[in-house]
Amino acid sequence: MPKPDTPSTTVAVDLGARSYEIAIGAGLLAQAGERIKPFLKRPLVAIVTDSNVAARHLDHLQESLRKADIRARAIVLPAGEATKSYQHLAETCDGLLSAGIERRDMIIALGGGVIGDLAGFAAAILRRGVDFIQIPTTLLAQVDSSVGGKTGINSPHGKNLIGAFHQPKSVLIDIALLDTLPKRELAAGYAEVAKYGLLGDAPFFSWLEGNAPALFAGDAQARIKAITTSCEMKARIVAEDETETGVRALLNLGHTFGHALEAAAGYSSRLLHGEAVAIGMAQAFRFSERQKLCAQGTAARVEAHLTSVGLPTRLGDIPGDLPGPEKLLDIMRQDKKEVAGKLTFILVRGIGEAFITRDVAEEDVLAFLAEEQTGE
Ligand SMILES: NC(=O)c1ccc[n+]([C@@H]2O[C@H](COP(=O)([O-])OP(=O)(O)OC[C@H]3O[C@@H](n4cnc5c(N)ncnc54)[C@H](O)[C@@H]3O)[C@@H](O)[C@H]2O)c1
Repeated sequence: MPKPDTPSTTVAVDLGARSYEIAIGAGLLAQAGERIKPFLKRPLVAIVTDSNVAARHLDHLQESLRKADIRARAIVLPAGEATKSYQHLAETCDGLLSAGIERRDMIIALGGGVIGDLAGFAAAILRRGVDFIQIPTTLLAQVDSSVGGKTGINSPHGKNLIGAFHQPKSVLIDIALLDTLPKRELAAGYAEVAKYGLLGDAPFFSWLEGNAPALFAGDAQARIKAITTSCEMKARIVAEDETETGVRALLNLGHTFGHALEAAAGYSSRLLHGEAVAIGMAQAFRFSERQKLCAQGTAARVEAHLTSVGLPTRLGDIPGDLPGPEKLLDIMRQDKKEVAGKLTFILVRGIGEAFITRDVAEEDVLAFLAEEQTGE
């Protein structure tokens, strides 16, 4: 268990029989073996990871497992969003079966949101469901995708359209893993941190305005506080609405606009998921101002903060051409956030005051997107 000098916190995800804990601290990867062992029926696990993460952290995880007398087989997939595909799902499932993973065994997802989503989904369907543990290695995965049990892959029809709710048995967040993360990826993950403040915690957003520089500079206390606060909010919302029939949709702040942009940019390095969310959140605030739902100047404050950490906030920040407003709206319609033909938007009455609405006229969205494209 943690050495007394290792700062760490725990967040509970309260889901009855599916409850679990998120451990957050510096250096937890070295303790992975002893932390994971109590969850195992036999000392065997399969690790799913990607090539970037494997090169930097797989050895350390394997060493920690070895010290705890746990045998591990690793499946190393290519890095990138394209890995959340049918092809790599099949490769993963067959790899897990070849590794001898049985119904009562454990899969470990070591990676960012791509690996967490794919490995989690493989765990959900392999032998009708096996257990898995998340060891998220990007900031985005540490504050968002590793918590809450949404797993899945992309289809040619859109992002995350094939998936399942499958909760992990535990989440181990080692903030030291962020030290090897490229700055652009750190900023993209930070968009999801800011999201929690923007959707429901104005004091947290103010704290971030003051402490983002320390967080980006690697300050452990700032990182632990930001990640813990984010996980607490996500855990609270997920406990209230595990399968997104209501309040969980608030977590999609910035995602209706953002997903359309991500799709338009071809899910490529042109625009990372977190960057799309940053632009989408700025748009949600600008659109809310335009609809006179929130005070003028609120969007400018949000944009100023996101820009200060190097995140894009405008369509013009995306390199290359984008489709016109009609096409963007079309992409939004194909997104799973459409219910009974009505688009769902997360709009705001102020910082920390997001709400869910299906009461948005498409003409208003089209007019707004046209203004956004001409940079008005
Ligand atoms: N399940 C959910 O609730 C949920 C929520 C939000 C996002 N997502 C999904 O998460 C995905 C995005 O996740 P992501 O931003 O973590 O992307 P990612 O998994 O592709 O990781 C980003 C890049 O960083 C590399 N990387 C990861 N950890 C590293 C480390 N410690 N050091 C160096 N490089 C490292 C990866 O190899 C990759 O190249 C999207 O597919 C999105 O749909 C899921």
